[in-house]
Parts: sequence; structure tokens; C-alpha cells
Amino acid sequence: MAHTVPMLSLDNVFSAEELVKWGASLERRLDGPVAGGFAVEPKLDGMAIAARYRDGRLVQLVGRGDGRVGEDLSAAIGTVVGLPERLARPVTVEVRGEVLLTAAQFETANELRLANKAKVFSNPRNGTAGSLRGMKSRSYAIPTTFFAYGAVALDDSGVLTGASHSAVMDEIAALGVQTTASVDGAGLRVHATIEEVQARVEEVTALRGSLPFGIDGVVIKADALAEQKTAGLATRHPHWGIAYKLPPVERQTKLLAVEWNVGRTGVIAPRAVLEPVEVDGSVVTYATLHNPAFITKNDLMINDTVNVYKAGDVIPRIEAPVLALRGPDAVAIELPTACPKCGGPIDTSGERWECAGGASGGCGLLAALSYAVGRDQLDIDGLGHTFLEALVEAGDVADVGDIFTLTREQLAAAARSEKRADTLLTQIEAAKEKPLSRVFCSLGIVRTGRTLSREIARYFGTMDAIRAADADALARVPKLPAANAPKIAEHIAAAGPVIEKLAAAGVNMVEPVAEGAADGPLNGEVVVVTGGMNGPLAGRNRNDMRALIEDAGGTSSGSVSKKTTILVAGENAGSKVTKAEELGVTVLSEDEFAARVAEFLG
Ligand code: IVH
Repeated sequence: MAHTVPMLSLDNVFSAEELVKWGASLERRLDGPVAGGFAVEPKLDGMAIAARYRDGRLVQLVGRGDGRVGEDLSAAIGTVVGLPERLARPVTVEVRGEVLLTAAQFETANELRLANKAKVFSNPRNGTAGSLRGMKSRSYAIPTTFFAYGAVALDDSGVLTGASHSAVMDEIAALGVQTTASVDGAGLRVHATIEEVQARVEEVTALRGSLPFGIDGVVIKADALAEQKTAGLATRHPHWGIAYKLPPVERQTKLLAVEWNVGRTGVIAPRAVLEPVEVDGSVVTYATLHNPAFITKNDLMINDTVNVYKAGDVIPRIEAPVLALRGPDAVAIELPTACPKCGGPIDTSGERWECAGGASGGCGLLAALSYAVGRDQLDIDGLGHTFLEALVEAGDVADVGDIFTLTREQLAAAARSEKRADTLLTQIEAAKEKPLSRVFCSLGIVRTGRTLSREIARYFGTMDAIRAADADALARVPKLPAANAPKIAEHIAAAGPVIEKLAAAGVNMVEPVAEGAADGPLNGEVVVVTGGMNGPLAGRNRNDMRALIEDAGGTSSGSVSKKTTILVAGENAGSKVTKAEELGVTVLSEDEFAARVAEFLG
């Protein structure tokens, strides 16, 4: 897809001296000092794209490509935070900027990929392109983030009237597109002299480690558009701007050993022990190795030289080993044959290896118990880690079911106080009345957390029905990745004895049905809402809509998939409508939907 105006790149400088030289060359071109000052902004480490808005509506996303022609990435519309599908004014404009994965989005992306059996992204930069490109072939979206750094008016509708780059950026932000002005301390600043620019470069460099995304430099531009025009362009880059590159956040070091840790749900995770190396201001000694498959796929060996990567507040990661530097002392990494914590058998059927005993076995028991009594599960807040440890030591508790048959004496011995024992007994009694979603969640079944436990409990209604469900039935639960269903089914079966203990102790095994939902108009419907709500639904945000859907007996979901049965399309609804139509999902207007749930619109 051809670019409207070529997307150039920037030339680089690497030191204060080179920056001064660039400043001097710019002054020569302008025949005098830079009167409009220098705009200074972070150089975002992602992928350049152009977002085209027609009459205020986002219609196309185009990758940079070779600067003249780029690939059509429009399928990703609706998945990019910071690029609204509708601008504040109906203008026709192309916004240019960088798409990236924030540290949190990078983690989510890899979770999603693991759950869908795709290879994990090795770093946020590589992950950005993969997230945007895969949208045509994947059934799930990976959210990314956009920050604008430029714009081109596509008609003469009066948009982009500012005389400076900073004014244009303010205008873009006012239209609703994200700029770095929204990131504390990292926004664009205008400085009068190169000395001030250098000081700001140092400030931004100091911010680097605490930013929620990676930056690989600082960009300096002549702010006045008239001066940009006078300075002009070289073939590949403008004379009016420069990238001050920062040292890479990737360093080489040696892999000394691999440790194997067992997490709450029994996942066995490898961790690299590294020869300490300073990466972007902090010393890195450990890095995640994701899973055994990562080790084997990358042919990683002890004593290998490895690239360590860090961006923003991401946990340090190892990229593939530098094979050219492999020495004769390279030793194969031994993969565990038994659970490193309890010595029991391990389940190696998935990419993530798990202790076959999981949370209900001896392994990970304390962590599993702490999780079970946590605020969002059984909410027995008096049972802190120390008490649980004492109860496990004393042999009184071997799984979450045992908590409900603890006697006052056993509790008093662990808590060393009768008064505390009484408080605990009251809390344990109250825990018996928790809804099924929380009771189920307390079992710590692999690959389920609060949200999925709630979905499973709502879908099946009773613990008996959950236990009777096979993998196929579980795969029909909204939000449950089908690929995870067999493993979840297996772990539910393994938790059978604990569930029986809980039931025998009188713990609630039923999900309360929301009032009116038993015969609600949305029974069995999986509803997605997109666009702004008007008419009878005006002013309802996504949370309000979710509550409304659930009150009416339906299940609310954030993205359109095969499981979706209704899409409510509000004002400026975008790509979700197309997707819903492709999948044959019923699309309702706000009015039609409001009519269906009229009795719940109090
Ligand atoms: S301005 C004509 N500003 O760095 C200059 N670029 O080599 C257009 N980048 O391809 C680019 N942050 O992908 C500009 N604040 C920023 C930037 C930025 C990151 C990227 C962009 C561009 C490359 C320049």
C-alpha cells in the first residue's frame, strides 16, 4: 500500500559532541540560530505505522515498509490502545507514530501465545510486528499501544493548522490520539539551545528504566515547521531532525546455571543464573527462560554466551545463545525428570511442565493454601502464612479441604491463642457460604484464576456439573482457551478427593443465580459490546453494560469469537462488526438491545 508522503527515518548521533555538530550543521542550513527551538521527545522502540482517518473515522493502518510502500495492517484496528476508532472532530488526516508493546502487554501477549501453543515473543520489539500482523490468521487479539510523533493532513478540512511540530502534536492529542504527553515526565519539551537539549536527553535517559515501554533513544527536531522546510531533506532522512541513540538494552553475558522453580499451581519454571551484567543501569543476575521448550528450541547450553534483553520494567530475558562464541566448556542443560520441589512425577505433555501432583499434592502446598484462603477466594484472612505453616507442620492440613474440619484446639495450637482460634472458626464458617466461583477458584486448578473460575461456575452452576464436564464441555465456557480445556479437565478430576472433603464439611457447591437471571432474556447468550452507548443506554460504560448483561442472565465478553452470540454495536462501532458479520453473529443496535433487556433498565 503506497504511502501518501514517504515515511523517512532519522539519522543517528551517539554522543554530546555529535549532537553539537548536528546542531551546528542545522544552523548553517538555516543561516543562523534555530529560532523556533528544538522539540525533544523519546525515541520509542517499536514499529512505525501510519493511521489514516477519513472524516474522523479510522479507516486504515499501514506499516512503514520501505518508506514508500508499506503493508496493510488494518485488520489490527480496534486492538491498538491510543488509536481511537473515531476522532473528536470529523477530519481527514494521517497520524504517524510508533506502535509498541508495553511491558504489561508483552507479558499478556506471551501468556496468550502460550495458551494458544504459539512460540513466545523474545522481546517487545519483535512482538509488536507479530501482534499487528497476526490479526488476520488468529482468533484472538493481542493489544498493542500507539504513540503519535507526526501527522499529515490529507485534505484541506482545516486540520493541522499549527506552525510548529509541538503545536501539531497538541492538536493530534486534542483529537484523541495518544502522544507521549500522556506519559509522566516523558512528553515532548521544547528547548532553546543544544545545551538544554543535552540536559533533557540525560533526563529522559534517567527515566528509561521506569518507563512502561522500551525507548532506544531521544529524538530532536527543529520545532518550527518553517525552519524544517528550510533545512530540507536528504534522500533517506530529514536535516531538521536527529535520533540521539542510547546504549542498547541488550548485553552479552554467560549462562552459568539453570534453576528450576515450582510455582503456585505446580508449574515448573526454569530460571537462568547469569554472570552478573549491567543492563541499562541495573545489574542482572537472573533471567526467565520461560519453559523447557524454550531451552531445547534455542539449543541453549550452560556456559553459552547469551544476549540479555531488558526493556522498561520487563523481567530480563535471554535471547538465543551466540553460537559463534560457544566454547568447548559448553554443557547440556539437564531437564528435570522429577518435580524439583517434591520429587514426584511431572507432567511434560504441554510446553509448560507441571508437577503432576499440582497444587493439591505435597508440592506447592503452602503457596496453594495461601492462595485458597486469599481475599478473592475463601477470604479467611486470619489464616496467614505462619499459621498455615504451623498447621501443615503439625500434620493437621494436607489440602484446602482439611481447613474446614480443623478443631478449636488445633487452631489454638497453631495460632497460640484461643481468642484467635475463635475468630478463625468464625471466618471458616463464613467461608462455607462463599459462592461456587470462589470455592472452585480456591482449588487452584491449573490455568484458571478468578475470572475463569467465575466463568466456569456461572456456566455450569454446580460443582457436580463442573466435575461431570469433559474437555469439550469446558471448551464451551466463554473466555476459556479451548487448548487449555483438556488440562483443566484433568486437574479438576485430580482434585476430586479435595472437593469431596469440602462438600462433606458443608461448603457451598452452588453458584447463586443473579436475581431475575434464571429466566432472563439473555440466558445462554454471550454478549460483546462495542462503540459508544446512546438512546436508552446513554452514559453506560463497559462495566455498567457488563452488569446489565449479567443481570439479564447473559455472559459478557470483551472480544468477538465463535462463542459470541450477540454483538451490541453502538456509535462508531468498528472492526468488531465486520468480524461478527463474518462469524454470523447477531448484531444489534443499542435500541434493539435495550428493547430486549427493557425490564432490567431501571
Ligand atoms: S520522527 C522523518 N519521532 O524512529 C522522521 N521517529 O529512524 C520521522 N521513532 O522510523 C520519524 N520515536 O519508527 C520520530 N519521537 C519519534 C520517534 C521516531 C521512534 C522511530 C520511527 C522512525 C525511526 C527513525
